[in-house]
Amino acid sequence: MKLSYAFLWCLQALTLTSAAAIENRDLASTILGEIESAASCAGCDAVLDILKLLAALGNTIFVKTLTEICILAKADDKDVCTGAVGLEGPIIAQDLRAMSIPSHTSQLFCITFFGLCPYPPVTPYTVPFPSPKPPTSRPVVSRQLPIQVVHFSDIHVDPFYETGASYNCTKPICCRPYTSAEAPGNNKYPAGPYGNTKCDAPVSLEDSMYAAIKQIAPNAAFTLFTGDIVDHAVWLTNQTQNIKDINDAYTRMSGLPPVYGVVGNHESSPTNAFPPTALKNNVEQWVYDTLSADWSQWIGSTSASAADKFGAYSVINGNLRVISINTNLYYGGNYWLYEKTMEADPSGQFAWLVSELQAAENSGQRAYIIGHMPMGMGDAFRDASNYYSQIVNRYSATIAAEFWGHTHTDQFQIAYSNYTAQSYSNALETSYICPSMTPTSGHPAFRVYSIDPVTYGVLDVTTYIANLSDPNYQTTGPVWTKYYSAKDAYGPLVTPPLTDPAAELTPAFWHNLTTVFETSPTAFQDYKNRQTRGYFPTTCTGTCQTQEICAIRAAESQYNCATITPGINFRKRDEVIERSQGVIEVGECEGSILRPILAKLAAKDGLLEEAVLKARAMYRKK
Ligand SMILES: *[C@@H]1O[C@H](CO)[C@@H](O)[C@H](O)[C@H]1NC(C)=O
Ligand SMILES: *[C@@H]1O[C@H](CO)[C@@H](O)[C@H](O)[C@H]1NC(C)=O
Ligand SMILES: *[C@@H]1O[C@H](CO)[C@@H](O)[C@H](O)[C@H]1NC(C)=O
Ligand SMILES: *[C@@H]1O[C@H](CO)[C@@H](O)[C@H](O)[C@H]1NC(C)=O
Ligand SMILES: *[C@@H]1O[C@H](CO)[C@@H](O)[C@H](O)[C@H]1NC(C)=O
Repeated sequence: MKLSYAFLWCLQALTLTSAAAIENRDLASTILGEIESAASCAGCDAVLDILKLLAALGNTIFVKTLTEICILAKADDKDVCTGAVGLEGPIIAQDLRAMSIPSHTSQLFCITFFGLCPYPPVTPYTVPFPSPKPPTSRPVVSRQLPIQVVHFSDIHVDPFYETGASYNCTKPICCRPYTSAEAPGNNKYPAGPYGNTKCDAPVSLEDSMYAAIKQIAPNAAFTLFTGDIVDHAVWLTNQTQNIKDINDAYTRMSGLPPVYGVVGNHESSPTNAFPPTALKNNVEQWVYDTLSADWSQWIGSTSASAADKFGAYSVINGNLRVISINTNLYYGGNYWLYEKTMEADPSGQFAWLVSELQAAENSGQRAYIIGHMPMGMGDAFRDASNYYSQIVNRYSATIAAEFWGHTHTDQFQIAYSNYTAQSYSNALETSYICPSMTPTSGHPAFRVYSIDPVTYGVLDVTTYIANLSDPNYQTTGPVWTKYYSAKDAYGPLVTPPLTDPAAELTPAFWHNLTTVFETSPTAFQDYKNRQTRGYFPTTCTGTCQTQEICAIRAAESQYNCATITPGINFRKRDEVIERSQGVIEVGECEGSILRPILAKLAAKDGLLEEAVLKARAMYRKK
């Protein structure tokens, strides 16, 4: 799920230092002042002008300078700096060389990297539809015997996980023998054989989940896997290893009910990097080749050859069309998207999605949309999310539900026909966001949905977990047990209560639940704790609660109440640090984490000074 923190950190450090290299140190402190006060988008433009100059010197010097600064600023371990900047630097350099400053693109860049600039208004674009919206609405449940559908996500399997390696390391993920001191037998923090919250998942955990699925839902109609196979050692990724990881995971899934997969942001190398087709740059074609080959056993060769274009396909199962989209084409962390003029429909995927939904509508099929990143998250570009929203609105009678991953947490989001008048009566769709298998954000989890076999409406969501805190977890292995059923936990809370097993959990039901969350701190707190399957309980009241409820009611990202916090990416990095200390998302809701971050930066002042000298020397050499 994560961007490369090392890279973001370096870029920010560079901004302060290269500015100084060209002008003087006063400018650096001026810029720091700008970032601190969040006063000006123009300040960010000045920063970009400098970065653009550096990019003009070529990829090599751009990467070298940033790497140097990352190391000097002790932003991360040396190998992490070198790896991450080396992989992602060239894409950023290309963006900068093409960028007009100021522009829509530069403004988005400033938001992503510095938390400066307000969000630009959505660029109006009317998605073309082949036919007007019909007067039909969601069908009512059939009350026939439900079918089951399995959902799991974000497996992030680490093939280099070693039992006995230290789980207490300085890197984004541990349980690898990065140094001999961290090797099995040489450390005080030996990892158990079945996983640790400081580490990505060992194969043993993955195998145990598939075995549990086969046992718990042997007759499931199919399986949804919403992506992210590759581990979080993003500074080490390469094509050969990623292909192996992807193929290995899909091989281990064999024997599960037919698996319908999606492209996660971690499947590429560099991570997050998915060039849209207009760039005529096929550097990541191997990701689509690999996935489509692995998927063909379940989706057939026609769908697989469609998936080979940009990672999207549809497959028909009964009277249901499952449409798998590549959300990396709308992801703020995909640096290929910061084109001089950003495309309204990268790779033509929206046009393709419309044609798929129209085909479903014409033939009276129901549809599921599946993808990696929920389209209402802050990570989703607001323009793209708005265009996607138009499509969901147009086909709301055909789309039965949407399924996503990426956040690692147990969540849901609601789409409305009118976001400024949200109510149960105009709630259109529910996005089901599946918790992860990787234990970095709580107990490993998967879900089994109870589904109406005619309407494909979701009747219940049962989440299963393997309890990491069970004293026998590392000895006898993960035991997968029922954690909760959404209908049992939430059905009685709404008015009128929804307890009939054959009733659908409609968008109206989920909306009504959010109104319960507004008035019942207990109900909301239970929901909040379930996000991490109870592993990292956090108190969320007041503004935190209001913002979280706002985000639930925002399957379109411009309505999710996310505020731009200056230095937001320092914050993201901070979160990782907090996480590695076992505290999840500290301050996420408060927005007041800036001060300690700036304090941290100020403490690095001497180091930044050194970096200035280095950067200046490098300019001179050129
Ligand atoms: C990790 O190691 C450091 C340094 O040895 C130690 O101070 C810290 O308490 C350890 N953390 C945990 C979670 O054990
Ligand atoms: C790719 O990554 C793997 C795992 O980190 C490493 O063992 C291998 O040497 C790398 N291959 C290349 C060509 O860099
Ligand atoms: C949405 O709701 C607002 C507030 O009730 C209303 O002013 C607006 O006209 C509505 N928009 C549409 C497109 O119906
Ligand atoms: C996990 O196991 C621990 C220890 O047995 C227990 O205290 C905790 O409540 C369990 N968590 C869940 C979500 O079942
Ligand atoms: C939602 O709440 C309204 C009243 O506020 C009620 O009329 C409606 O039946 C509820 N719908 C569901 C599905 O809970």
